[in-house]
Amino acid sequence: MARRSIEQFTGLEADPTRPAIVVDGVTETFRLHHERAVGLKERLTRLRRGSYTDFDALSEVSFTVEHGESVAVIGHNGSGKSTLLKLLARILPPDRGTIETNGRVASLLELGAGFHGDLTGRENIYLNGAILGLGREQIDERFDEIVETAGIRPLLDTAVRTYSSGLYVRLGFAIAVTVDPDILLVDEVLAVGDAEFQSRSLERMRGFVDAGKTFVLVSHDLDAVREMCDRALVLDRGRLAFDGPVAEAVELYRQRVASAAAPRTPDATRPVGCASRTWSSSAPTASRSWRSAPRAP
Ligand SMILES: Nc1ncnc2c1ncn2[C@@H]1O[C@H](COP(=O)(O)OP(=O)(O)O)[C@@H](O)[C@H]1O
Ligand SMILES: [Mg+2]
Repeated sequence: MARRSIEQFTGLEADPTRPAIVVDGVTETFRLHHERAVGLKERLTRLRRGSYTDFDALSEVSFTVEHGESVAVIGHNGSGKSTLLKLLARILPPDRGTIETNGRVASLLELGAGFHGDLTGRENIYLNGAILGLGREQIDERFDEIVETAGIRPLLDTAVRTYSSGLYVRLGFAIAVTVDPDILLVDEVLAVGDAEFQSRSLERMRGFVDAGKTFVLVSHDLDAVREMCDRALVLDRGRLAFDGPVAEAVELYRQRVASAAAPRTPDATRPVGCASRTWSSSAPTASRSWRSAPRAP
């Protein structure tokens, strides 16, 4: 039983005859509380009155990624790119539809996601390695490579909350590429690093793609997208507007989406605090497929 759960955890049970990623009819809805109240009393009464609107960050999105494909996700701000990657990384559950991944998934999402601020760099490497399904020995073997890739040796025993944003990204990236994932998800974070880190990490991502791994990249850097990906998904207001060759996708994005770019969430409906649901995420590599519970009407 324990063995079984470890296998599920590490994705070793993944079915190699199935595609790397299957997203089927996925909708992700956020509840936006209207920001009008100021005082605590008013806020409490407002909550009781339930002044909110539901907002689909993703609507009925379906696509399949085969093993070894490298796929970009592009679209203007607020189109749902980061939400999609969080769903693939299992940080969020889908409200409707199903997501299946086959293989060990490592992700580099929002800045600092997955790090514990009070723990040191060293401790976070072990923590993240464990979350990604590696045993202590496997992390020991990779430890120096992670430290060198991240360039954090002098700060190894310092709490990561003192790290600069560039350092955070370097450490996250170093861990993500060194745990030898089958599927790597990267969301826009590379822009934070300096030029040297950017070129080094592009190099690592290229190596990953060349090794025939599955890669999903969210980026506004259309040159990087064109160079690294064969295929691109264009998201437009939470809907999949295009899925096909990267050159066509970039052209479409330039013409249709970028020109019409407008912030999707009006200020009046900015979320207050966090989303409507609380969700304690399990490991990113946990159960291979999941189906959301039916939504309450
Ligand atoms: N936790 C959340 N609660 C409420 N709204 C959210 C939340 N996360 C994202 N959104 C909204 O969902 C939309 C899509 O966001 P996101 O996936 O981050 O877009 P992108 O990465 O393409 O810029 C945005 O309008 C954003 O404001
Ligand atoms: Mg984003």
